[in-house]
Amino acid sequence: MSGRLTVVGLGPGDPRHLTPEAAHALAAADALYGYGPYLDRVPARAGQSRHPSDNREEGARAAMALRHASEGARVAVVSGGDPGVFAMAAAVCEQIEHGPEAWRALDVVFVPGITAMLAVAARIGAPLGHDFCALSLSDNLKPWELVEQRLDAAAKAGLVMALYNPISRTRPWQFGSALDRLRRHLPQTTPVVFGRAVGRPDEHISIMALAEADPAHADMATLVIVGSPDTRVVRRPGRAPLVYTPRAAAKVSA
Ligand SMILES: C[S@@+](CC[C@H](N)C(=O)[O-])C[C@H]1O[C@@H](n2cnc3c(N)ncnc32)[C@H](O)[C@@H]1O
Repeated sequence: MSGRLTVVGLGPGDPRHLTPEAAHALAAADALYGYGPYLDRVPARAGQSRHPSDNREEGARAAMALRHASEGARVAVVSGGDPGVFAMAAAVCEQIEHGPEAWRALDVVFVPGITAMLAVAARIGAPLGHDFCALSLSDNLKPWELVEQRLDAAAKAGLVMALYNPISRTRPWQFGSALDRLRRHLPQTTPVVFGRAVGRPDEHISIMALAEADPAHADMATLVIVGSPDTRVVRRPGRAPLVYTPRAAAKVSA
């Protein structure tokens, strides 16, 4: 029997955000690999083995899953959100590039999921309605100076920014430093959206101006959207405000 490796996006947390393609891929697998809390979101199926591992072990997890698939099993590796966004799909590709030749011959399939920035954006309007970029603030796999360089470039280019991995126990000061840096370039009134645990029971969304944006509002489960100078907040009576970035931009950013 020839093995297969499927890299599956689970979406941000709400089971309704799991695509039918992802549900099918999970049900068809003999073995599931992933970060423990993500595996817990997958309904149990008799005869299917589970191989949880720690969050920081993506490379080793990908290698174990590839080894298992090369023995003939149908293996699924799960990621929260989309597997191609700061997640397992790149870890699997890295292992295939640098691993045994046999891994290149494996049937490997990537199943997309709803990434956190899209789920947060959909809660509040259309902050990603014009040009935007996605950045990870984690400096585990790149130097902090590179993060700063990219923040500067994005702000100067007038891009809305979706900031993944804003803060963690081992990275306590970086997000505050990033906000200070953005205050040098952007109007103090620029809307900043904190989307915490979107699609989960403890979801919380808050909107504030860049001048007031407090790093204490973010944790590991938060996705932050920093608007561009064009991003607008529409106040509504008795309803949450809408945050959107108009489809048209009239001028080159200063
Ligand atoms: C390692 S990245 C993985 C991203 C994931 N692959 C995706 O497409 O959403 C983890 C970061 O994604 C964001 N994130 C993941 N799930 C989230 C959720 N339900 N609500 C808000 N942010 C989330 C947070 O910024 C978190 O620190």
